[in-house]
Amino acid sequence: MDRFQVEGPTRLAGEVPTSGAKNAALPCLAATLLTAQPVRLTNVPEVRDIRTMQKLLQHIGVFLSSEPGAVTVEAREIGSADAPYDLVKTMRASVLVLGPLLARSGFVRVSLPGGCAIGVRPIDLHLEAFRRLGAEVTMQHGYVEARAGRLAGAEIVFETVTVTGTENAMLAATLARGTTRLVNAAREPEVSDLADLLRAMGARIQGDGTDVISIEGAERLHGAEHSIVPDRVEAGTYAIAGALTRGDVTVTRCRPADLKALTTRLSSSGARVKAGDDWLRVQGTDTLEPQDLATAPHPGFPTDLQAQWMALATQMAGITTVTETVFENRFQHVPELVRMGARIKLEGRWAIVEGPTPLTGASVMASDLRASAALVLAALIARGETIIDRVYHLDRGYDRMEIKLSNLGGRVYRSSFPTGTFPIPERTR
Ligand code: EPZ
Repeated sequence: MDRFQVEGPTRLAGEVPTSGAKNAALPCLAATLLTAQPVRLTNVPEVRDIRTMQKLLQHIGVFLSSEPGAVTVEAREIGSADAPYDLVKTMRASVLVLGPLLARSGFVRVSLPGGCAIGVRPIDLHLEAFRRLGAEVTMQHGYVEARAGRLAGAEIVFETVTVTGTENAMLAATLARGTTRLVNAAREPEVSDLADLLRAMGARIQGDGTDVISIEGAERLHGAEHSIVPDRVEAGTYAIAGALTRGDVTVTRCRPADLKALTTRLSSSGARVKAGDDWLRVQGTDTLEPQDLATAPHPGFPTDLQAQWMALATQMAGITTVTETVFENRFQHVPELVRMGARIKLEGRWAIVEGPTPLTGASVMASDLRASAALVLAALIARGETIIDRVYHLDRGYDRMEIKLSNLGGRVYRSSFPTGTFPIPERTR
C-alpha cells in the first residue's frame, strides 16, 4: 500500500509535460475490439486504469503488445465476450467493452459496475441505447447480457449527458446497418478523440464535439494508428497547483483550448495565465479573489477539477461556493481538507469555502481519484508534513505524479508498505 509524504509549504516552478488522457485511452482501447486488424495507440498514459483495461482485453482474447507510452491491439477473434466482476469492480470504465463486443460478435456479458466513491453511477442510459439499436438486454445475477443480430441504426436521445454512454453508443453504431443519431450527446474532448480514432478505422462519424453526433454504419472497420489526446484534467491539476503555491508553472504538451472554463476562472481570481497552442503558463499572486463555480458537462467547468479547485478556494480571500451538479457525492476530499485546517461547510450539492485559511500538514486518506489530487495540492502549501494514504487511487489516473511534482520543486516522496502495516512517520518516532 503506497503512500505519499509531502513537505510544505513549497512554491512550484518550471515545466511539466502532460501525458495522454486516461479518459480517451480507455474508450480507444475498447474500440480496438471493432476490427480484426492491428490498432496502435501512442501517447498512452502509464496509469493503473490503462493496465486494467489491457488485462480485460487480454481476458477477452486479443493479442496485445505494449511498450512505454504505446500499445498495439489485434482482436483477430473474440474469445470470451464477458467482463468479470473482479475486473469491472476495480474500474467502471470496463463497461466500454459492451458496445464494441455487441457490434462485433452479437453477444456480450459484463458485470454491472456497482457504485463507487462518487455515487451510484448507473448504466441505464447505455443499456437503453443498445435496446434502441435493436439489442435484447437483460440483467441478472449482477451481470448485463446483451445480444443482437446486426444492430440497426436509430435515433438515441440521452435524457442526461453521459460521457461513456455517448462513447458506448458511438462504438456500437459504427457497425450497425444504417444511420444512428445521438442527441444530447456528451461534448467532451475525449469523445472527439474516440471519433478521430474510429474515423481512422474507417467509420463515418460527424458532429462529435457538439450535442448531436451522427454515425453511418459500416460493414467492417480496419486497423489504424492514433495518438491519444493530452489529458486536460491532469493539465488543469498542475495549472491549479501553480496558482495555489503562488508559483510559476508551465504545463506543456497540453491543449489549452480544452481548458477554457478553468483558465478564465484562474485569470478572474487574479492568477496570471498565458497560453499557446500546446502550453499553458500559470503564475500565482499573493491575493486570490473568490470565484464561485458549478460543475457542468463540457464545455462547462469539469467535475474532474472540482476537488482541485476547492483546494485553491481555501486560499481565496473570501467565500467561494462550489456546486457539484454532475455526481451526487463528490465531496470526499472535504473532511480531509478540513483536517488540514480548511473551513468548508457542506449542504447537499453545495460546498461553502471560507478563505484564506492557513493549512497544516496531517495524515489524510485518499478516496476517489480527483479527491486524492486535491489532497496532494493542499499538502504542497500546508505547513509541515502530510502523509497521504492509499495513493493507489491517484495512480489510477495520474502518470508518476510524485516525479512530475518533484521536478517542479515539490517535496513529494512515495513510500511503499506491505498492506496492513502502518509505520509511524519519521518525525513522531
Ligand atoms: C466519465 O464518467 C469520466 N470517466 C469521469 O471521470 C467523469 O467524471 C465523468 O465522465 C463526467 O465528466 C471516463 O470517461 C472513463 P457520466 P462517466 O456517464 O461516463 C449519470 C475521472 O476522475 N448517468 O458522464 O461514468 C451518472 O450517474 C472519472 O477520471 C446515469 O444516470 O460519467 C452521473 O450522475 C471519474 N445513467 C451523470 O450521469 C447512465 O447510464 C454523468 O455521468 C450514465 C450516467
